[in-house]
Amino acid sequence: MAYQNLLFDIADGIGTVAVNRPKALNALNTETLRELQRALQELENNPEVQVVILTGVGDRSFIAGADISEMRDMNSLEAIRFSKLGHTTLDQIERLGKVVIAAVNGFALGGGTEIALACDFIFASENAKFGQPEVTLGVFPGFGGTQRLPRSIGKARAKELIFTGAMISAEEARDFGIVNRVFPAESLVEETRRVAKKIASNGPIAVQLAKASVDRGYDVPLREGCHMEAVAFGACFTTMDQKEGMTAFLEKRKPRFKGK
Ligand code: HXC
Repeated sequence: MAYQNLLFDIADGIGTVAVNRPKALNALNTETLRELQRALQELENNPEVQVVILTGVGDRSFIAGADISEMRDMNSLEAIRFSKLGHTTLDQIERLGKVVIAAVNGFALGGGTEIALACDFIFASENAKFGQPEVTLGVFPGFGGTQRLPRSIGKARAKELIFTGAMISAEEARDFGIVNRVFPAESLVEETRRVAKKIASNGPIAVQLAKASVDRGYDVPLREGCHMEAVAFGACFTTMDQKEGMTAFLEKRKPRFKGK
């Protein structure tokens, strides 16, 4: 499928989607969000793909937020629609049956921080910058930032970032728990692919059920979450991969998972 605003690649079980509007520091306009939804659906439907890396083209920016030139003249209803388009896109990332890693290679501002937070985890380059600068534009986060950021770093820290609009460095974002790991810019892609390959070598159904178990269990009481975990754990035992994984261990060889 052809994309105007994305680079799209599949290799070694890893799908890579890079937002490709470097002249606008990869800002997200409606067209790009729609393309992202199509690309995510294409990756979801492709059984070869087990891990997705989301990044931005160039060495300056991951995503510098939603496109301000498109938003400036929106009326209220158009703004609601735009916000909801962002929500459905981020929801699609969270519910994808594949692991999604954000490789943040520069500015992740506004919608950029928000979309990274919807990914399963974030790796960042040393020059990455995170922030929710929307209040400096007379608006506030509208792609889920008021909801995911407090859940990620706590209410008080999230409020400080959202109310000040301040940017934080990759190191600070790591200290806050937003970012898992920080790499020199030149090794971000390689390190992200290394971890993606490790994940892709594991039982795909087990990884998918583990993702769903963490995410679906996160918002429900512990007892409910543990019940969901037990049911999903049992589902692994309907797969050939569970037999293969455990047999391979006992036979002291590498497993050959089939995703079945
Ligand atoms: C549209 C953008 C943009 C954006 C940068 N550009 N960010 N265009 N939307 N979000 C464009 C600039 O207009 C400029 O275009 C080019 O990219 C390079 O940017 P500069 O500002 O010249 O670069 P620099 O001085 O290095 O500053 C980098 C920056 C700054 C600090 C990242 O660009 C910036 O503050 N951008 C806006 C970040 C932001 O506020 N994001 C939140 C958006 S609101 P030209 O044509 O002049 O070269 C949001 C809401 C989400 O995300 C929810 C919606 C419902």
